[in-house]
Amino acid sequence: MATTEESLELEKVRMGAFEFTPKLGFREYWYPGLEAKRVGKKKPVHVEMLGEDLVFFRDKDGKIAALSDWCPHRGARLSLGVSEFPGTITCPYHGYTFDGKGQCVAGIIDSPESPIIPYLHSRSYPTEERYGIVFVWMGKTDPVPLDEDMPEEFSDSTLTGRRYMRTKMWETNWTEPMAQGIDFHEFYLHRQLNFWRLFHWRLPFFRPRLAYTGGVKIVEDGENYVNCKITEPQYGTAYHPGAGGAWPKHTWWRKLAPIAKIKAYRGKPWVTYDHNIQLPSIIRTTLGASVHMRWQVPITEDESRVWTFTFVRKPKTIFGDIYQRIWYYLWRKWDIIVFTNELEDLVVFKKDRLNLDTPHMLGPMDVGLAYFRRRLARRARDYQRLGAPGEPEARTTSNVN
Ligand code: FES
Ligand SMILES: [Fe+2]
Repeated sequence: MATTEESLELEKVRMGAFEFTPKLGFREYWYPGLEAKRVGKKKPVHVEMLGEDLVFFRDKDGKIAALSDWCPHRGARLSLGVSEFPGTITCPYHGYTFDGKGQCVAGIIDSPESPIIPYLHSRSYPTEERYGIVFVWMGKTDPVPLDEDMPEEFSDSTLTGRRYMRTKMWETNWTEPMAQGIDFHEFYLHRQLNFWRLFHWRLPFFRPRLAYTGGVKIVEDGENYVNCKITEPQYGTAYHPGAGGAWPKHTWWRKLAPIAKIKAYRGKPWVTYDHNIQLPSIIRTTLGASVHMRWQVPITEDESRVWTFTFVRKPKTIFGDIYQRIWYYLWRKWDIIVFTNELEDLVVFKKDRLNLDTPHMLGPMDVGLAYFRRRLARRARDYQRLGAPGEPEARTTSNVN
């Protein structure tokens, strides 16, 4: 458990983004790869993740297999091939054919007896399918049971699980949307009146506007997560002598704040954290009676595949179910995921708009972030198992020996 002293000691730290967090992500973890329904019987599917190109197809048992996309023969993309024989993939170039373990099983235009066949092997990656999502293990060491890396919300049968899910490529290094989970930027970046928020009392339109946070503190930490909160939130407006002015400026809708007191949310929140991040690359925020969770999967150094899950209580009646789907698909998805995250957040930090290569001067607002970069990162399984973050494989993984 981090003490306040430890938190304070982290203030005013000059620190780069990648001292302990690898640019292409920690590798000794399961990551979501793609939705299982995308993988049919004939056409393989290409997915780039953690700096490597993978190809997904169904093996002879119908299980989804993942191999390095680069053919061990002469480096063509297996994902451009087809499945000539059930449960295998045939390279589009010279027709060498591989099974779900990556072993060459035929050299179509070479010969049925080709001596090279036993020596051609493409690296295969362990996969597991859960909730219609294919998870991939790209670590060097043996995989842990998938449940160890699955966010606990999925196994809670009272919640909606993967029902409200959105997957999108974001043009940013994975660490930035991760840092967002605990940097409390929302009080400035998302300060503006958002049209959609006019329609729902839980959102800031009816809330007292925060003047300042008083910094951030760590309220709980565990082996693979940290929970943060703002320290001493002040409402109304505050005078900043250095700038010679007050912020926020008075606007008429802030006068509606007392309404929030009458209609304040009284339901019992079922989560005990406010802002949370979890290794390898998960963030959670509570919004009203829901949890907004994102799982960032590094693609390249400048791109991440972001899986956003919205967890709410399962509805009890058919009407509740209909209402909840309308709530999500017509309002929540647009208000939070599209407008707030993909338009307001992303435009600030996407590639070339944020410099992650110079050291950052971290202060009281960044206690959680400093903790992630310096301490939580070093508790990653990569450090425990390998002593250092894992590296992507070379572009071809031919095992000719
Ligand atoms: S490059 Fe794949 S078969 Fe030759
Ligand atoms: Fe944000």
